Amino acid sequence: MSVERVAVIGLGAMGAPIARRLLGNGDRVTVWNRSPRRVAALREAGAVVGASPAEAARGAETVIVMVSDPQALLAVAEGEHGIAAGVQPGAVVVQMSTVSPSSVTRLAHALPPGTGLLDAPVLGSVAEAASGTLRLLVGGPHELVERCLPLLTQLGAPLRVGELGAGTAAKLVANNALFGVLGVLGESLALGGALGLSWEALHEVLGVTPLAEQAARRRPAIEAGDHPARFALALARKDADLVVDAVTDGGLGLGLTAAARDWLVDAERAGRAGQDYSAVLSHILQTATKGPRR
Ligand SMILES: NC(=O)c1ccc[n+]([C@@H]2O[C@H](COP(=O)([O-])OP(=O)(O)OC[C@H]3O[C@@H](n4cnc5c(N)ncnc54)[C@H](OP(=O)(O)O)[C@@H]3O)[C@@H](O)[C@H]2O)c1
Repeated sequence: MSVERVAVIGLGAMGAPIARRLLGNGDRVTVWNRSPRRVAALREAGAVVGASPAEAARGAETVIVMVSDPQALLAVAEGEHGIAAGVQPGAVVVQMSTVSPSSVTRLAHALPPGTGLLDAPVLGSVAEAASGTLRLLVGGPHELVERCLPLLTQLGAPLRVGELGAGTAAKLVANNALFGVLGVLGESLALGGALGLSWEALHEVLGVTPLAEQAARRRPAIEAGDHPARFALALARKDADLVVDAVTDGGLGLGLTAAARDWLVDAERAGRAGQDYSAVLSHILQTATKGPRR
């Protein structure tokens, strides 16, 4: 495996293990994070710390961006200290944050001529980032994806879904599916309880429905009432907002997307923003029995 010069911008729950994994594989990694408290551990692990996104990007062959949302992407990409001010011709920016399709278009316009851009948001969470078993939904020119494969495969399994922007579109579709399933699962559990089914019988019946896998997977956390954050509920609500915006922008007449988002908004308002997004299930179970929502 050839050694690469990689910059990782954003050292949150996902960016930090990604940077660590690249360091572990022998890559030369430069990092930047808005809050300095997150860089010390990476410095100790061997990363060089840049003073700004521009400085971190300068000299890198590949610049990975893993920040929270469209506003964060804008903040790290543009302006005199942004990635676009430092990235060198010939380098590739791999945008992995979950953002809007228009953010990717804007980033493409902000980057200087001669630089490449892929959008590659991910499926999987912190454990998968650490073990290099993420699913990367990649959009961009075929040759650029091919060139980046040695790096991308260090992080997981890349799936090229189309031209630039397609990775972001695919991620919104995937998360729409996830949030919809969680909403239906939570409501099915609430319905079964209200109809007098025992918790055990409820899981037996869900076990022979299309919800079987998710019902079994989420059961221990619901029973424990404990949802330690891997993917924060506030970020899931942000993704659901992006989905609903995409539905509106596309002039689509969809209903389930907004309903699934509403549950995440409710759960966030109830104080669960920092819990794992799966806490929406406990929230539905606690609140559905209190009567009509609207
Ligand atoms: N966690 C998961 O399981 C998971 C799974 C798939 C996809 N994702 C997506 O991956 C992305 C990162 O998620 P995460 O879980 O790593 O989030 P996180 O732990 O909340 O980290 C967010 C990162 O974004 C930075 N940031 C936020 N606002 C910023 C701003 N205005 N300017 C500069 N930097 C800013 C934060 O910097 P500070 O440290 O200074 O706050 C931090 O480095 C998100 O788009 C998320 O939806 C997450």
